[in-house]
This record gives sequence, C-alpha cells and structure tokens, in this order.
Amino acid sequence: MDRTRRGRRLLVSLCFLCLAVLLPGALLASPAAGRKRRQAGFDHYVLALQWPGTVCRQTNHCCSSNGCCRSNPLNWFTIHGLWPQYSYGGWPSCCRPTTTFNMNKIAMLKPILEKYWPSLYCGDTSTCFGGRGPFWAHEWATHGTCGYPEIQDEYDYFSTALYLYSKYNVTKALRKAHIYPRNGRKYAVAHIVDAIDHAFGRLPHLVCKNGSVQELRLCFHKDYQPRDCGSEDDEAWSSSRRSHCPRYVTLPQSALGNATEGRLRNRAENVPRAHGQSYV
Ligand SMILES: *[C@@H]1O[C@H](CO)[C@@H](O)[C@H](O)[C@H]1NC(C)=O
Ligand SMILES: *[C@@H]1O[C@H](CO)[C@@H](O)[C@H](O)[C@H]1NC(C)=O
Ligand SMILES: *[C@@H]1O[C@H](CO)[C@@H](O)[C@H](O)[C@H]1NC(C)=O
Repeated sequence: MDRTRRGRRLLVSLCFLCLAVLLPGALLASPAAGRKRRQAGFDHYVLALQWPGTVCRQTNHCCSSNGCCRSNPLNWFTIHGLWPQYSYGGWPSCCRPTTTFNMNKIAMLKPILEKYWPSLYCGDTSTCFGGRGPFWAHEWATHGTCGYPEIQDEYDYFSTALYLYSKYNVTKALRKAHIYPRNGRKYAVAHIVDAIDHAFGRLPHLVCKNGSVQELRLCFHKDYQPRDCGSEDDEAWSSSRRSHCPRYVTLPQSALGNATEGRLRNRAENVPRAHGQSYV
C-alpha cells in the first residue's frame, strides 16, 4: 500500500473516532462544515475510464473473466469506476461495511456491463475489509457505497455510471477529433484534452503508463453536470511518476486475443498494480 493512501486512511479513521483535535494544521484550518462533510458525504464524482490497449499489455495469462482475452479486442474506453470525491482532495472509501455486493440487483445490466465495464484482470479483486470478489463487487464496495444517499444501491450505482458513460461518449468525442487507437501513432496530450473539452466543455484528467494513455477521467458535480477535473484529482497520482503523461502519448490497439508468447511476462506483473496503488 502506498504511503499516501495509508496516511489518508489513518486520517479518515481518526476523523471517524472524533479525534479531529489530533489532526495536523491543514485539516484543522478548514472550516468546520468542511470537516463535517468529510464524514457525511462527498463533493463530486470522477468517472474513470480505462484504455484496454494499455492495461492489457500487462496481461500475462488469460482466463474467461479477463476482458483482455476476448477474441474481439476492446478498442474503446471501458469503465473503471464512478468515484465519489472530496473537493479538497481525497475520497471516501468502503462506506457501508455491512452491505455485501448483490449481483441480483444488476442482473439486468450484466450484458451491458460485460461490454462496457469488463474486468481487465484475472482473479478476484479485493473488496472492503479483507473480502474478495468480482471487479464489480470491488468498485461497488469501495466507491459505490460512498455515494449514498445520491447512490442508493447497486442498480443505482452501475446504471448511473453507464448513463454518464454513454451521454459523455469519450470514444466518440475522440473519433470526431480524428484520434483513433493505432499502434505506434502518437497524439499530443493537448489534442486529446482539447477534443474532450470541445465535446463536453470540461477538462478531463489523463493517466499514462509508459507513454500510453491508461485512463481518461471525467469529472461531474453531484447533479451530474460536467465539471473540470481539478488538480485535487491528480493528488493521488502526483506521488507516482509512472502515471505522468509525456507531451505525446499513444493509444495502443488492444490485440491480445489469447495471451500469446512474447506477451507473457513474469508472473509478478499480473498483479493489478495500478489498482493496488491508489484508488481502486
Ligand atoms: C484462444 O485459445 C483457444 C484455446 O487455446 C482457441 O481455441 C481459440 O481459438 C483462441 N482464440 C483466439 C482468438 O486466438
Ligand atoms: C460511443 O460511440 C461509439 C461511436 O459512435 C459507439 O460505437 C458506442 O456504442 C458509443 N458508446 C456508448 C456507450 O453509447
Ligand atoms: C515502454 O514503451 C517502450 C516504447 O514504446 C517499449 O519499447 C517498452 O517495451 C515499453 N515497456 C513496457 C514495460 O511496457
């Protein structure tokens, strides 16, 4: 676990224990209302989308649950998660310890989720408090539960994310600006940001891995109107140079199909590290 996250967890649990008095100056300086909100709610949403072509380069073995392994490669941004955020940095997580993920509530959405919100890894991901489950259970438990009361249950969570994803169609916006997945082709980050700004009137936040776009994030007010993604949304990543985007980036095509020789890397790399690192 990285240090920022551990630190933040500690802060949050301190708040929880009403030990705010012990917190360092920065937090104490914020208005009382702000402190209260830290426990009671959140300020805006981040809709995190991932670029399979980049994520799937880390795949070293295949399994049926891994979207990277499909015979029809995913050549569009897929959903990573909808994340409630605090406007001054940080985010709540694991907000309702007693609720377990109920797949039945989203059974109707499953075919759409398979297409637009697939797991890009093999194996279960962590849920809160030591549990493990499918990728969806992870996103719901870690982030979805913190959207209450705006987000009431699993159905609400997944359908809200899908609604935003289809209304603010990033793949379409980029195509309009002639930005397509293509191996080796480089695009200026400014060109990508402008394309999104032009389409939705707000600035996205990009996360890269080794010179390729790994995530594109859109930000929304609580009423689901788009807002700029601010520097506070970068905070979690700023400690990690690896997420930094150079001026020119690629959008590699997803072409794994079956994990073929040459794509296989050592086993340690199969751990979804980008996940463990921060938000997810
Ligand atoms: C993937 O591998 C399986 C078994 O090894 C094979 O039957 C299937 O045709 C392969 N699919 C693709 C897209 O290569
Ligand atoms: C986004 O737009 C593309 C291109 O027009 C389209 O194929 C895709 O179905 C759209 N995605 C959603 C979720 O509506
Ligand atoms: C990083 O990108 C370079 C150039 O695109 C490539 O040659 C190299 O294999 C990549 N490294 C990893 C770990 O993916």
